Amino acid sequence: FLGDRLCRYKNYNFVVGHATPEYIDSLQSFEIRDSDVFLVTYPKSGTIWAQQIIISIYELDGHVNKDSFNWQKMPWLEYKICEYALRPSPRLFTSHLPVHLMPPGLKDKKIVYLMRNPKDNVVSYYHFSKAFADLDTPKIAPSSFFDHFREWHSSRDQYNILFLTYEDMIMDLKGVVKKLSSFLGKNPTEAAIDQVVEKSKFATMKNNPKANYEQIPREKFSGKFLRKGQIGDWKNTLTVAQSERVDQILQEKLGDLSLKFIWE
Ligand code: PPS
Repeated sequence: FLGDRLCRYKNYNFVVGHATPEYIDSLQSFEIRDSDVFLVTYPKSGTIWAQQIIISIYELDGHVNKDSFNWQKMPWLEYKICEYALRPSPRLFTSHLPVHLMPPGLKDKKIVYLMRNPKDNVVSYYHFSKAFADLDTPKIAPSSFFDHFREWHSSRDQYNILFLTYEDMIMDLKGVVKKLSSFLGKNPTEAAIDQVVEKSKFATMKNNPKANYEQIPREKFSGKFLRKGQIGDWKNTLTVAQSERVDQILQEKLGDLSLKFIWE
């Protein structure tokens, strides 16, 4: 049951008012450029974190409008915030879309797929939906975490995708910044890498109005995008039965992939 806050379109759920079927369909004729970069995530996997890192890497070259918020610098493809065809290259995009709704022509373009262990993901989502006026608690908008990952993972041979995890970022932020830089074709100095790391730390982002998403009106969203930023918060939140249920669905849906998640 989707209620009146969600609409299902082409096997995917959208929050009503955030994306229209017409716009999603129009992406099928969206013109991709060679220099476009796409960060793809299932929501609450660390999207705004990777967004901050990618923006910071590009800003080392003087690219990207320095005066705007991160959601303007690297907007969601599925929410049209401006005329994307008029944006100068390189265009950086964020998206939660599944493969089948993405524009054609992504082959060879740079795609970063970030995932997070599904227990922390669902807990983060729970807190988000509680604070988000457009979503009922505990409703999860975009269909299944597991289907999202499977579809992107099974497309990995057709595309140029760098798979990253939230847990990698927590455990070795600098290593991830280096990996991302080289994937994006950049070769920053050690000092520049340190700068990117500094800008992307939880505490730095939390205090940066351009990165912390706190300009969203309180009546729309009364929580924090930068909430806890840890691995293992699920242990404080999920019951044993809920945790076992995630294990079971994980096994059913992705068991054949033998994924190794870091849970704490
Ligand atoms: S959204 O709505 O999909 O864009 O949300 P998303 O950014 O994917 O997920 C939000 C969670 O990412 C955490 N986050 C970070 N953790 C560590 N370090 C940094 N710099 C950072 N930035 C964002 C954020 O705290 C949310 O996780 P929880 O577990 O709710 O704290």
